[in-house]
Amino acid sequence: MLGLKLLTDPRWANIAEANLAEILTDHAWCEQKAATNAITLIANNSEHHDLVEELTAIAIEEMEHFQQVVAIIKKKGYVLGRERKDDYVGQLVKFSKKDGSRNTAFIDRLLFAAMIEARSCERFRVLSLNIKDKELAKFYHELMVSEAGHYTTFLNFARKYTIDVDVDKRWKEWLDFEGKLIRSFGNKEAIHG
Ligand SMILES: [Fe+2]
Ligand SMILES: [Fe+2]
Repeated sequence: MLGLKLLTDPRWANIAEANLAEILTDHAWCEQKAATNAITLIANNSEHHDLVEELTAIAIEEMEHFQQVVAIIKKKGYVLGRERKDDYVGQLVKFSKKDGSRNTAFIDRLLFAAMIEARSCERFRVLSLNIKDKELAKFYHELMVSEAGHYTTFLNFARKYTIDVDVDKRWKEWLDFEGKLIRSFGNKEAIHG
């Protein structure tokens, strides 16, 4: 799925569903961070008009997802907790290239975003197929479709705007790294946990 090397064990969905308040809080902040990432990409690369337009749409959509998750939290009688630390994303940040040319850092930031979208999409799929709460399963199915679209957008911009990066080669490196990284996850009630 989306080139991912390792798919999530469906039993992770049971761990998630056993602590809905926690996974929903974690999820809400994942959406906020996705919006923030899109905004940062816009601010740093404003010369690309199509990127500004499309990532503005993505930033808005991510905040709509945030809004939807917060509404679910309220409806279920939970409280939105503080932002959760995302160790998985922290490891991806370490892997991303920040030195080298401006173009190298830009392209890697797009691939970093595509990587998180791909895994989030896969996790939403696992939730949509395995949780017992029908309404929530439908919600996660819709998000899965949306994040798959974001994944494609980020990857396409990397291919379009590369100057000195072999995007296919670098994307393979991302998939290999993530495939190994994800082995130590899948046991916590967090979207990337
Ligand atoms: Fe989202
Ligand atoms: Fe997304």
